[in-house]
Amino acid sequence: MSPTPLAADGEFAEIIARYPRARSAVLPLLHLVQSRAGRIGPDEVAEVAAALDLTPAEVTGVVSFYTMYSERALGRHHIGVCTNTLCAMLGGDALFERLTDDLGVANKGTTGDGMFTVERIECQAACTHAPVVTIDWEFFDDMTPTKLAEVVAALRAGQQVTATRGGPIRGIRHTERVLAGFDDDPTPGSMADDRALAGVRVAQQRGMTAPVGPTPTTGVQR
Ligand code: FES
Repeated sequence: MSPTPLAADGEFAEIIARYPRARSAVLPLLHLVQSRAGRIGPDEVAEVAAALDLTPAEVTGVVSFYTMYSERALGRHHIGVCTNTLCAMLGGDALFERLTDDLGVANKGTTGDGMFTVERIECQAACTHAPVVTIDWEFFDDMTPTKLAEVVAALRAGQQVTATRGGPIRGIRHTERVLAGFDDDPTPGSMADDRALAGVRVAQQRGMTAPVGPTPTTGVQR
């Protein structure tokens, strides 16, 4: 069988070769096709299924389960507003309302110029910096409506925008390639800043340790 258009350049094969079983490559492969097509529609599902010897129904089940995959076309930038409990209480709901009003979109909507897709997202395990917004899945901490409007305006103007604890924002398609295991360019420093490590510091000061868990077993299981 000849390779499908998305699979033709060898990156499909490179991802599949990372795993002992081809079907284990489904998650990064879906990120790769989303980086190329901007969405995961029926054609992309069919190509991934063919490459992994899965049925389209099996691949569709993965796409519809994980919220980072989108069956609708994404804008150039994905803006996630955390409206889970802590962020919501500290302003996440207000951020979402203001942003969707300003951009004229509903949840998961994309602006008419294709620049932004806005989505309510669940807890990003960054509650120490609530309310948190992600742009192309990079963190923007302690966000306010005014700061968020400034970031959006800068992106729209083509200016460089840098995440609070990450690198420059390059668009959701770039992030999707990174999630597929390509083109990563780690920013020097640590995502875990002083505030995020406060609990570890207290535990160390008090001599607290975690219990040792069971030894993991190895082996490939279906
Ligand atoms: S509730 Fe928003 S990061 Fe945890």
